[in-house]
Amino acid sequence: MKFGSVLVTGGAGFVGSQLVKRLLPLADHITIIDDLSTGNRQAIPDSDKITFYQDSVTNEGLLQAVLPEVEWVFHLSCRNLVLSAENLEADFHTNLYGGFLLLNLVKKYCHGLRRMIYTSTASVYGNAPVIPTPESFYQITMPYSASKFSVEHYCQVFIHMYQLPVTILRLSNLYGPGQLTSNPYCGVVSKFFEAIEQGRPMTIYGDGRQSRDFTFIQDALDAILLAARHPHTVGKVYNVGTGKETSILELAAAIAKVTGKQEYPYEFQEKRTVDRVVRRALDARSLQQDIEWTAKVALEDGLRRTYQWLTGTEHERDEEMTDKSE
Ligand SMILES: NC(=O)c1ccc[n+]([C@@H]2O[C@H](COP(=O)([O-])OP(=O)(O)OC[C@H]3O[C@@H](n4cnc5c(N)ncnc54)[C@H](O)[C@@H]3O)[C@@H](O)[C@H]2O)c1
Repeated sequence: MKFGSVLVTGGAGFVGSQLVKRLLPLADHITIIDDLSTGNRQAIPDSDKITFYQDSVTNEGLLQAVLPEVEWVFHLSCRNLVLSAENLEADFHTNLYGGFLLLNLVKKYCHGLRRMIYTSTASVYGNAPVIPTPESFYQITMPYSASKFSVEHYCQVFIHMYQLPVTILRLSNLYGPGQLTSNPYCGVVSKFFEAIEQGRPMTIYGDGRQSRDFTFIQDALDAILLAARHPHTVGKVYNVGTGKETSILELAAAIAKVTGKQEYPYEFQEKRTVDRVVRRALDARSLQQDIEWTAKVALEDGLRRTYQWLTGTEHERDEEMTDKSE
């Protein structure tokens, strides 16, 4: 699998930095635009093949300068669910306007575009009546789901009006090596590991019976890279998930087991504004049918690999990531 000149927005974030590591041996050149609002510069590997701009995806001049050379666009930069609910204007500006601007300028300047991947989210499903949820459903109640879903619509506009080759992937609760606990908005898996490491109880918002579809990062990256190259995925929207529900209580127990502290305590707190989804699992059969992708890493295995990474040295961490990139 070869990639020429690539742009990754949000390349210093969890998914972006791991995508960059996977792309590094495959691409000729990688441009990263990330304003480091939640991302980490150290998460990006050192390489002559990488040009990093600490800047916003809403910087039109920068996009105009870099896009003419770009063949592959992976649009990952975003304000996350929690930040979006705290500041709707900033969510609108980065997630919606940033996504629209990028599409518009890709159409104008990216004459050699091979594919644009837009990472959308399972948050567009809200409280879906069907579990696992197929791509046809949506329920928008939060600013994050509104802005992410709106950009999906703009993707459709550019696909249909201008034949822009875009693929939309709805990711679900990613976890794994690379999810840094230094980011206060990292997912619940990293939060639970961090609590155990610091000797604090794991914090559960609500009664812990709410479920999520936890997807291992390397499975999700397989989906992103395969979908980017596959001719059948142009113009389509796909779920990327395992189809399995895991409650937060089950997750807490599984993490405690992986760390060897079976009876580790947890504490309950009131649900936050963003804790609205009761059940989540994604039906990813359409991606399986079109490109033969399925999630391979079972939760317990993924958690074990995450724990090894979190407790390893930086060197071991890097080796782990290099192994997975090959
Ligand atoms: N991690 C998940 O579980 C998950 C689930 C569903 C969807 N997604 C999607 O995957 C993508 C990556 O998510 P992530 O978990 O890596 O998030 P992340 O917060 O770790 O990374 C997002 C990156 O975007 C950067 N950023 C924010 N605003 C920016 C701006 N205006 N200009 C440039 N960069 C900016 C941040 O600094 C950060 O490095 C997002 O599009 C997200 O919606 C992630």
